[in-house]
Amino acid sequence: MTRIFSGIKPTGHLTLGNYLGAMRRWVEVDQHGADALFSVVDLHALTVEHDPARVRRLTRQSATLLLAAGLDPELCTLFVQSHVHEHTRLSYLLECTATDGELRRMIQYKEKGARAQSAGQGVRLSLLTYPVLMAADILAYRTDEVPVGDDQTQHVELTRDLAVRFNQRHGHTFTVPRATHPPVAARVMDLQDPTSKMGKSHEPGAGIVYLLDEADLVRKKIMRAVTDSGTDVVYDRAERPGLANLLEILAACTGADPAVLAGEYRSYGDLKRDAAEAVVELLAPIRKRHAEIAADHGYVDAVLRAGAERATALARPLVDDAYRAIGLLPAG
Ligand code: AMP
Ligand code: TRP
Repeated sequence: MTRIFSGIKPTGHLTLGNYLGAMRRWVEVDQHGADALFSVVDLHALTVEHDPARVRRLTRQSATLLLAAGLDPELCTLFVQSHVHEHTRLSYLLECTATDGELRRMIQYKEKGARAQSAGQGVRLSLLTYPVLMAADILAYRTDEVPVGDDQTQHVELTRDLAVRFNQRHGHTFTVPRATHPPVAARVMDLQDPTSKMGKSHEPGAGIVYLLDEADLVRKKIMRAVTDSGTDVVYDRAERPGLANLLEILAACTGADPAVLAGEYRSYGDLKRDAAEAVVELLAPIRKRHAEIAADHGYVDAVLRAGAERATALARPLVDDAYRAIGLLPAG
């Protein structure tokens, strides 16, 4: 059976981008047809300035929202990364496999490093090594497929390179995984700045729709989305990014094709109204279910405990193999 692994960082409240670009597919497709593991990757939230209480809160909230969005612990394994020690154990071996140059080339490192620097904060070493930890997340489970938004392609490529290199040097140990992306809305853009990704770690703003936003707030944000100076509705990502983003959001919600949708609209207003209603409808059941699950702390804890147990049982033998293969003497 295909093994799937994906993760989400508790660095902010989950957004429509997380849902359309990743979570929805986990819920609708991945957990059914495969042996799927999903992790709230909390260690990754420590690579930039962070508030400990907030990370803890967001870790629980992210897990709760994943369950609310439809991940079913009977069908998949949901756990918190730091509860499973195999990730950091393996990460070190992969640090001994990756090169400094390879990691410095990562786009996210360059972007986030520059941001930290211009904010007068030091660039944490973990920001540089973070893709290696991500590779460990993936490789520890003999993962075949990694469903992610397309901003993660470079990291999955690195993971493949590390797996191949380790296998060549030390004997076949890891499965070489591949990234998979959703057909539409692989990248949902900020409604106020449609040339940048709708990111949960960004400053909260009018351009970001959060999964727990009230219906009226969602409507307001979408109705105020920045469009372009034209008046005709055409689908053109390069020239008309604001409009393309709205078309893709509506298309992703309704299962339509953005180019075909463009032909059905005469005005931006109508398109915005329909996109807003489609998103409100999409999010309503998630918000309702979140309130129910959040009221039952014991439930979320129990799911995460069972998830970490299963994940540990899967990863430990493989990580032990990797320790042996790389030359470490097993403890008697
Ligand atoms: P992150 O928010 O960076 O932890 O990402 C969690 C998952 O959501 C990853 O698979 C990302 O690729 C995906 N994702 C995050 N933001 C977006 C976005 N604006 N559009 C599409 N996918 C996204
Ligand atoms: N780096 C991913 C992101 O920023 C999150 C992540 C960490 C991840 N480990 C992973 C995604 C393993 C897929 C598989 O979105």
